[in-house]
Amino acid sequence: MILVTGGAGFIGANFVLDWLACNGEPVVNLDKLTYAGNLQTLGSLEQDPRHRFVRGDIGDRELVSRLLTEHRPRAVINFAAESHVDRSIHGPGDFIQTNVVGTFNLLEAVRDYWSTLAEGEKQDFRFLHVSTDEVYGTLTAEDAPFCETNRYEPNSPYSASKAASDHLVRAWHHTYGLPVLTTNCSNNYGPYHFPEKLIPLVILNALAGKPLPIYGDGQQIRDWLYVKDHCSAIRRVLEAGKTGETYNVGGWNEKANLDVVRTICAILDELQPRADGKPYAEQITYVADRPGHDRRYAIDARKLEKELGWKPAETFDSGIRKTVAWYLANRDWTDAVTSGTYRQWMDKHYGAGA
Ligand code: NAD
Ligand code: TYD
Repeated sequence: MILVTGGAGFIGANFVLDWLACNGEPVVNLDKLTYAGNLQTLGSLEQDPRHRFVRGDIGDRELVSRLLTEHRPRAVINFAAESHVDRSIHGPGDFIQTNVVGTFNLLEAVRDYWSTLAEGEKQDFRFLHVSTDEVYGTLTAEDAPFCETNRYEPNSPYSASKAASDHLVRAWHHTYGLPVLTTNCSNNYGPYHFPEKLIPLVILNALAGKPLPIYGDGQQIRDWLYVKDHCSAIRRVLEAGKTGETYNVGGWNEKANLDVVRTICAILDELQPRADGKPYAEQITYVADRPGHDRRYAIDARKLEKELGWKPAETFDSGIRKTVAWYLANRDWTDAVTSGTYRQWMDKHYGAGA
């Protein structure tokens, strides 16, 4: 079996659902259930004996040690993190606590467990750390996409805390021999994405007749990957990645934010036209830029493609269409999310009534 952390969040939950659908190996899912954790996403697994959910903190070494000893996983996959850049600007403390101190405690609990394994099991064990391309900092329009050998130059409290966690994971390999793998992925989108991030926020605001906030000039570029392609990359790295190595994961889908928002508006115009017949793009509203806003991210995913034979299944066009359709078809999920603590955050960030 495997231990997944942060498996009630956006990517972790997609990973657990896909894992059980295409693999069947049991999963213990440890998640603190912060505002970003949502058990409704895992509702289809409620009666599934292969999935055991445990509410808890990756920083709780005693709890993690107990879970490891009890379940004896062959791998730990660490998704748990504070993940939203804007939140990290308003309050970096939680990011240091979970992403840095939490990862440290998790590594220590895993190292203790791993050191007790028999030699063969020790060699086969894996600690896979899920990280981001944001650790590499920002690119100009002319720069080549990020390679695994790029310098770490994080610019936000979020990316700095993820960079710190990547360094800890690296050091636990070099110093203690822990068999680690690290993946650095570009921006994900798809089902079950919490609507504080650009794509789900824009879909749900559009449908609710609210403004679609564009930070600054909207010309910042992100490299978008459909979440299920990220999950397949993680499965492939877990299966065949070389320990101690890092793998960049991306979809070769660089898009300016404004283009992403206009694409979503056009799909909604087609699938669910506004009652007044006007285009959703009329709701686009320019707002103040994010402090320290990284201009461009782009991933060179050739190492993963060449060495492990991974390729994304979706283009941006196919993935974004699926995503918009999913949000239209899953109003129970979106209504529950938008009526929760998400409201308080939105009020603080965008002002009451947003
Ligand atoms: P998310 O915010 O949707 O989910 C994070 C999950 O971790 C939540 O379920 C939350 O409850 C849980 N969690 C938070 N603190 C915890 C703690 N101390 N102990 C246990 N659980 C805790 O994030 P996501 O978008 O699913 O991202 C998952 C991972 O992938 C993160 O490590 C993130 O840095 C990385 N990543 C995300 C993206 C992206 O575009 N979303 C891209 C690349 C990498
Ligand atoms: P986000 O989804 O928060 O991901 P990240 O900051 O990790 O890349 O934001 C994606 C891009 O969209 C980023 O350049 C910031 C921008 N953005 C907006 O223009 N408006 C918004 O309301 C949000 C949430 C993001």
